[in-house]
Amino acid sequence: EKVIFSGAQPTGSLTLGNYIGAIQNWKALEQDYQCLYSIVDLHSLTIRHDPKDFRKSCLSFLAQYLACGLDPEKNIIFFQSHVIQHAELNWILNCVTYMGELSRMTQFKEKSESHKDNINAGLFTYPVLQAADILLYQTDLVPVGEDQRQHLELARDIAIRFNNIYGETFALPDIHLSKVGARIMSLQEPEKKMSKSDENVNGTIFLLDSNDVILKKMKRAVTDNENSVTYRDEQPGIKNLITIYSKLANCSPQEVEEKYQGKGYGAFKSDLAELVVESLRPFKEKYDEYMQNPDYITSIYKQGAARATEIAEKTMKDVKKKIGLV
Ligand code: TYM
Repeated sequence: EKVIFSGAQPTGSLTLGNYIGAIQNWKALEQDYQCLYSIVDLHSLTIRHDPKDFRKSCLSFLAQYLACGLDPEKNIIFFQSHVIQHAELNWILNCVTYMGELSRMTQFKEKSESHKDNINAGLFTYPVLQAADILLYQTDLVPVGEDQRQHLELARDIAIRFNNIYGETFALPDIHLSKVGARIMSLQEPEKKMSKSDENVNGTIFLLDSNDVILKKMKRAVTDNENSVTYRDEQPGIKNLITIYSKLANCSPQEVEEKYQGKGYGAFKSDLAELVVESLRPFKEKYDEYMQNPDYITSIYKQGAARATEIAEKTMKDVKKKIGLV
């Protein structure tokens, strides 16, 4: 059976970009594969945080995963920090990763630009921990958004290198990207990706935004002067909105174009805003239910950690043997 691994950083709350770029695919894959979906809390430590808020946000993320419909029986849902083998393998992989490779990571370059006061070593070795996450479970497929491509190529390179030096140990992971929606853009600056940490909050829809806020952000979304709902690169704002529509309505961008042929942006945008609100309604209801049931949340992450640890231990045993640790 194929193994799937993916994760999200528990900072703030999930965005529409996370949902369309990643979680919709996680949900689709759970039917046929053994999936592990982690809340990668250790990765979030690369950014300064308030411990109290962080703890809340981690638990909220688990509720958000469940509210997205991820089945905790079918999938292994867990906190990265609960499975100590992630940190253990991280160290070992650090020793087969080159500084040069890490210096070429565009996310490192971007993040060290935006956090000049805290360019810590964790930020630099971030992709090695990510490789450990993936390789620990003999992962075949990693469903992510386009922004993770470079990190995944590195994870694969690290696996190949390790296997070459020490003998066949890790499965080689492939990236799993959507044809449409692998890169959802900011509603304000459609040349930038939609991001949790964008200073311009109007560019990002959070799954937990109130209906009013969603309607407002959608109304303000940047378009152009063409007033024609067409899916093409020359109209990045409207192209992004068509993408969002098509992923939430489960149709192709061409079908959206046809539906809005001859209609202006006003009608399209207000329908889209409605669609987003309606799509998120069940999510929010479930989220509230889960948040009122902390015991259930605890039981899910404990069970997830136990199941994940079982697999991780097997890989680590092999890794240690291969490298000659006594
Ligand atoms: P993170 O937390 O930034 O994002 C979680 C997932 O959402 C996708 N995503 C997007 N997809 C489309 N459009 C967007 N605007 C958009 N924004 C985010 C991301 O590609 C990701 O799939 N380093 C990872 C977390 C991670 C991980 C892993 C992922 C740690 N270890 C192992 C996969 C496997 C990250 O920061 O994702």
